Amino acid sequence: MSGPISARLLPRTVTITGGRAAVGGVDLATLADEFGTPLYVYDEHELRERCREYRAGFPDGVHYAAKAFLCGAMARLVVEEGLDIDVASGGELHVVRHAGVDASRVVVHGNNKSDDELRIAATAGVKAVVVDSHDELDRLARPEVVGDGRLRVLIRVNPGVEAHTHEYLATGAVDSKFGFPIATGDAMRAVERVAEMRQLEFGGLHCHIGSQIFRREGFDAALDALASLTAQIEVALGLEVDELDLGGGLGIAYTEADDAPPIAQHAAWVHEAFGAAVTNAGVRHRPRVTTEPGRSIAAPAGITLYRVGTIKTIPGVRTYVSVDGGLADNPRPALYGARYEAFVATRADADRDQLVTIAGKHCEQGDLLIRDAEVPGDLAIGDVLAVPATGAYGHSMASNYNQLPRPAVVFVSDGSARVVVRRETLADLVGREV
Ligand code: LLP
Repeated sequence: MSGPISARLLPRTVTITGGRAAVGGVDLATLADEFGTPLYVYDEHELRERCREYRAGFPDGVHYAAKAFLCGAMARLVVEEGLDIDVASGGELHVVRHAGVDASRVVVHGNNKSDDELRIAATAGVKAVVVDSHDELDRLARPEVVGDGRLRVLIRVNPGVEAHTHEYLATGAVDSKFGFPIATGDAMRAVERVAEMRQLEFGGLHCHIGSQIFRREGFDAALDALASLTAQIEVALGLEVDELDLGGGLGIAYTEADDAPPIAQHAAWVHEAFGAAVTNAGVRHRPRVTTEPGRSIAAPAGITLYRVGTIKTIPGVRTYVSVDGGLADNPRPALYGARYEAFVATRADADRDQLVTIAGKHCEQGDLLIRDAEVPGDLAIGDVLAVPATGAYGHSMASNYNQLPRPAVVFVSDGSARVVVRRETLADLVGREV
C-alpha cells in the first residue's frame, strides 16, 4: 500500500519531527488542541511565495481571484505582495474594501451585476469592471449608474474553447452563461458599443476558460482567439487593446495522481503562446497580458484539521472514519467528486497502509470527504487528521448545513499562529433571527 504523504502536496514550510508535522514552525496537533477542529490553517509563507511566483511570471499584472479564499488578512496579504484583486460580487468588494484595500486595486466581475453593484464600483473608483452582457452595457449607459466619472471596462469574451476539466468548472465553451461569444459577433459588437459610450473607457478583453486545468491547449486556443479579435478591433474600429486578461484556471495537485505545472511553467507557456498568437494575427499594438489566479495561490497553502470521532467497520464492505466536519467546510468532494489525501498530524511519516472512507458528520450519505483514503493502520479516535491542498474554495464555499458553526481560519508564520477569522459560535447561528 502507500507510503507517507508526499511533500509535494504540502506547503513548503512543513517539517516532520518524530512523526509530528509542523507548518510555519507550528505543530499541527497543537494548533488543533489550541484552536479546536475543524480548523483551516494557512501557511503565510506559501501564500506569499505563490504571489511572488505569479508577479515574476506575469509582470504586466496579476489579479488575485478573491472567490478562492477571502478574508481581510488575505486581501491585505495579496496587496502587500503587489497583486490586485478580482471580486465577483458586491459582497466580495465590501470585504476587500473593509480590509483597507483601495478600490483602485480591484477589478469587478459578475454575469449579473445589479445596478447597486455597478454604482458602488463606479463611485468607489475601481480599477476596472469586466462587462459580461449587453444588458450590463444598457445599465452602464444610465447616468445614475456611472455618474460623472469615466469607468474603465474590459469586455469578457467567450472564446468557444473546451478546457479539460470538470464540466461545472469549464466556462469557455460556446454554451456558457459567461461573456460575449466571439463566434456570434457579440464580442465585437460589445467593444463597438463601449467605444460609443463616453462614460466608458475601453481597457481591453478578458476571458476565463475554466478552473483546475493542467494542460496548455485550452489557454493556447484562448490566446489565439483573443489575438484574432484584437487584430479585428484594431482594423475595424481603429482601437488599441491595452490589456488581455487571461483569467485564472491553473490547476494544482490535490493528490499524488495530479500532475499540475508549476506557476513559472504556466507563465512561460502563456508568454510563448501569446507571442505566437499576436504575430499570427497581425496585431499592431501588443497588449499587456494579465492573469487572475485563485486556486493556484490559495489551495496549496491551506490544510484543514479534523479530529476523528467515530470509527465504524462494516465487515467485508468498508471502514468509515468520521470526523468533526465535512460537507459544510468542504463541499468540493460532494459537488465535483474532488479527491484529496489525508495524514495523521502526529504520525505524518507513517506508512498509510489502511484503506478507509473518511466521512463527515452531516446527515447525508454523500458527505464523504475522502472515499478510499489511505491512512495509517493504527488510526484511532482522537487523532488529528490533516487534509492538505484545501486552501481554495473550502472556506469560501462553506455553509452552516446542519447548523455546524463554521471553522476558524488561522495563519501560521515563523513559529506563531494568529486567528484571522474566528470560529462561529452557537450565538452566531441564531444571530440573524428577528
Ligand atoms: N477569474 C474568473 C472570472 C473566474 O470565474 C475564476 C473562477 C477565476 C478567475 C479563478 O479561477 P482559478 O484560478 O481559481 O481556477 N468552486 C470551484 C471553482 C470555481 C471557479 C470559479 N471561477 C472549485 O472548487 O473547484
